Amino acid sequence: MQANIRKFIFGDLQTIEGYIDPPDALVFLSLLRFQTKKSFGGGIAEIGVYYGRSYFLLKKLIGENGRLLAIDLFDMDVQPNGTPAQYQRFLDNGKKLGLPVDENLIIKGDSTVLQPSEITDMIGEARFFSIDGGHMLRHVKADSELAMETLADHGIIAFDDTFNPAWPEVTVAVADFLRDQQGKFSAFCMTKYKTYVCRSDFLDIYCRAIAESPDLKAFEHVRTDFLGSTAVRLNNPLARRMVYELMNHTGMRALSERVYR
Ligand SMILES: C[S@@+](CC[C@H](N)C(=O)[O-])C[C@H]1O[C@@H](n2cnc3c(N)ncnc32)[C@H](O)[C@@H]1O
Repeated sequence: MQANIRKFIFGDLQTIEGYIDPPDALVFLSLLRFQTKKSFGGGIAEIGVYYGRSYFLLKKLIGENGRLLAIDLFDMDVQPNGTPAQYQRFLDNGKKLGLPVDENLIIKGDSTVLQPSEITDMIGEARFFSIDGGHMLRHVKADSELAMETLADHGIIAFDDTFNPAWPEVTVAVADFLRDQQGKFSAFCMTKYKTYVCRSDFLDIYCRAIAESPDLKAFEHVRTDFLGSTAVRLNNPLARRMVYELMNHTGMRALSERVYR
């Protein structure tokens, strides 16, 4: 099972257009597996699906009985006849991967106007909430409040594109969120692209989950202070990223998993 998931992350998942890269995929794997081991229940929600790369990872990780809600405008890829093809391509990707999309758990629309009950009515409280929708301050502010209000006590919020100079307002919104919550939430893990946040009561538990995950041993674990908590920053050296990209683009995708052992 474990080997299969890694094979999926480094293989089939990379054929889906999108943005989650192997280091964060390994963090998702580590956190969801840890929650399952601890019987931390709840649904999963994702704002910002695009063509489904992170959605299909989550779907693969939670298996057939997990509840995964996808929220997106689905208005991209407009065809000459004026209709967007994004949603159909997302569905097609699910068929291609053998992970069919559950169309009963889709919200097509603007996440910033959703009410928490629209989410909890569909999946219950969330144990994992991925935020990767609109990237301006107002989007991430609304999405983080929505996530907070739907989150189980042990729930995790994964913010994408933090500290990315292309999207400075995401970082501001995450900092605002942490400061507004006045210590109730803490960042426990940071990667090149994402920041992972939980309720502060669970900070030590999740820091340990990251520290002890066999799938994250390849990274340098650096203690990093961020707005009142010490998170584990997973440093991924440039040399490894270059080797991985080279293998990925020269037909050696099947072997690229070894780079991250
Ligand atoms: C960066 S992409 C998501 C990438 C995806 N998570 C992946 O792994 O490939 C951002 C997505 O957010 C969606 N989006 C942007 N603003 C939104 C909003 N206000 N409400 C819902 N979805 C939104 C876009 O349609 C787009 O599909």
